[in-house]
Amino acid sequence: MPQPRSPRWLRWPAASPEQRLGYGADYNPEQWPREVWADDVRLMRAAGVNIVSLGIFSWARIQPRPDAWDFGWLDEVMDLLHAGGIAVDLATATASPPPWLTTAHPEILPVTRTGATVWPGARQHWRPTSPVFRRYALRLVRALAERYVDHPALAAWHVSNELGCHNLYDYSEDAAAAFRTWLRDRYGTLDALNAAWGTAFWSQLYGAWAQVLPPRLAASHPNPTQQLDFMRFSSDALKDHLLAERDLLRKITPDVPVTTNFMVMGEVKGMDYAAWAGEVDFVANDHYVVPGPQARDELSFSANLTSGIAGGRPWFLMEHATSAVNWQPVNLPKLRGELLRDALTHVAHGADAVCFFQWRQSVAGAEKYHSAMVPHAGEDSDVHRAVVELGRVLERLAPVAGACRVPAPVAVLFDWQSWWAGELDSHPSSRLRYRAEALDWYSALLALGVRADVVPAGTPLAGHRVVVAPMLHVVSRDRAEELRRHVDGGGHLVTTYFSGIVDENDHVWLGGYPGALRELLGIRIEEFHPLPDGEVVALDGDPLAPGVVATGTLWTDRIDVVDPSVDVLARYASGDLAGRPAITRRPVGDGSATYVSTRLGPDGLVPVLSRLLAAAGVTSELPPQVRGRVELTLRGREGETFLFLVNRTAEPVAVPVPGEVVLGHVSSPDGVVTLQPRGVAVLRRTDLRGRIPAGRS
Ligand code: GLA
Ligand code: GLA
Repeated sequence: MPQPRSPRWLRWPAASPEQRLGYGADYNPEQWPREVWADDVRLMRAAGVNIVSLGIFSWARIQPRPDAWDFGWLDEVMDLLHAGGIAVDLATATASPPPWLTTAHPEILPVTRTGATVWPGARQHWRPTSPVFRRYALRLVRALAERYVDHPALAAWHVSNELGCHNLYDYSEDAAAAFRTWLRDRYGTLDALNAAWGTAFWSQLYGAWAQVLPPRLAASHPNPTQQLDFMRFSSDALKDHLLAERDLLRKITPDVPVTTNFMVMGEVKGMDYAAWAGEVDFVANDHYVVPGPQARDELSFSANLTSGIAGGRPWFLMEHATSAVNWQPVNLPKLRGELLRDALTHVAHGADAVCFFQWRQSVAGAEKYHSAMVPHAGEDSDVHRAVVELGRVLERLAPVAGACRVPAPVAVLFDWQSWWAGELDSHPSSRLRYRAEALDWYSALLALGVRADVVPAGTPLAGHRVVVAPMLHVVSRDRAEELRRHVDGGGHLVTTYFSGIVDENDHVWLGGYPGALRELLGIRIEEFHPLPDGEVVALDGDPLAPGVVATGTLWTDRIDVVDPSVDVLARYASGDLAGRPAITRRPVGDGSATYVSTRLGPDGLVPVLSRLLAAAGVTSELPPQVRGRVELTLRGREGETFLFLVNRTAEPVAVPVPGEVVLGHVSSPDGVVTLQPRGVAVLRRTDLRGRIPAGRS
């Protein structure tokens, strides 16, 4: 994973307080008459807003014709914001090409796998690999950079917007040409490509590079390695666009940090952000709550993974919602307390800036029903009052700025390659969901009150006593070796069904499953036994609390224990495999390697994890009575640690944890903090010795 060459944070305007958290929104003044602008700045100041992202969708306004530029309005807004003490994260405005460009150059429009053109009318209708689009985009970037290089409000560059949100997979001729170049770089020769793609299968042997195509609509299942490489290529193609804009910005405005907003959230899976993070000056993320029983856990998981992607350093929450979004089938408003708790959960996981989409709710356009900091109802509204309250809270949390995450005893390994390859078609089951399995483990850890870091695969594992690697489907020789070393060194590994099955080319490891992890786990599986929809198997065994019958869904394995030292922790109690091992653990010195062969869900994982954590000597840092009800995260620097306590429930929770109160209410002299329903408290301690990663320079 590339690491930032030297991470840089916002370039705050000269007169700004030394230590502060960022607070603000996407600001789209071009949607409003200029009379509103002054009122915007007044309200922003009153709410404690100190940074906005400007110009994200302004291309058509800035450059109304190929050779006409209109910077007057943007100059005015930049000056107005600066006069109001508000810094600008200025967009390069390349996210949505204007109608004149797509009319003159329809060859920049993306093409779907069935050959249909993606027409303008929404946004992001451009091919990441189009040289024509690139030329026009860079011309705009240059014009903006040269114009605002010395503007005192300019705190950062915001490249494009959510790269890949709508234009990730493009199957055009441009994409085909760029894909071939990418493949030549990866494989060098056609022979190597043929070997990697396994083209002996179905007469796919390539005799010339020109014969190689993106995986367009085919008669049957397209070649899986071709699909996997196309996913890798598509992520890289967007990253290339980021690099092209970034390099030009760095040339013209070397003092201004460059970022772009990632989408670490839900099922957004196409961009391998772990491979992008080293290319930006600081990581920025957008997150929207995914409704459902694990909504809050998913938010925490995403924020946690963003921190992992950022190497534990602070990051920028570029967008989330004050209340409802507009793009789900049914869009629910946030409940009282949720705006604050959601925002502070991101801060707990390392966000040093908290921004929303968007400042003022639109009156027209596709997002007019999306919440904002100033809703349709105006400033006299509960949403805006909550916005103002959050501004005050973030001011109080200024001392947290710059503190890095304190490593947790447990790591949950997150691997884009396994996500991509594990969910390809023509598999034993089409029901497996990589991120859902990972989230279940995370939910179980939250339920047990045990801190965990979600880290991208490739992050050094040393220091994490327990590494949970759910559905780690792709295991290269190097990855297998890394995991073996972790266990040999006294660490604990927990993995699940469909792990260790293929190498980086999606070729099966022979000799029995779980292939690359077979020896480490001490088991062997001849055949997979996925479960039909709706079928449930019962498990019983030692780790399951008395009287609790755990149930598995989705998958089972017919496991043979090969290494006599392996303990069978649970067996199937029903179904075709009744009596056979379901969960195994192989002790290795002080370490161990555990295999869970079915989907247990968050509740089913709790007793299993609890037993495994106990064996690994990992206990919750929270008092027993609040475990599961409160999420604990730690941010720290030399000499001080901040404890974030997030109430996961809608009831008040009293937490007897000592510390200097930065945020929250202490209800008794002996230091019991009472968390409001969905409330958050922050305590400062100087007596904790965490291993704290290097702060930003
Ligand atoms: C994304 C985009 C924003 C807006 C929001 C709405 O995050 O970046 O422009 O469309 O979604 O949720
Ligand atoms: C058909 C085809 C075979 C193979 C099998 C798989 O019978 O002829 O090549 O694809 O399906 O079930």
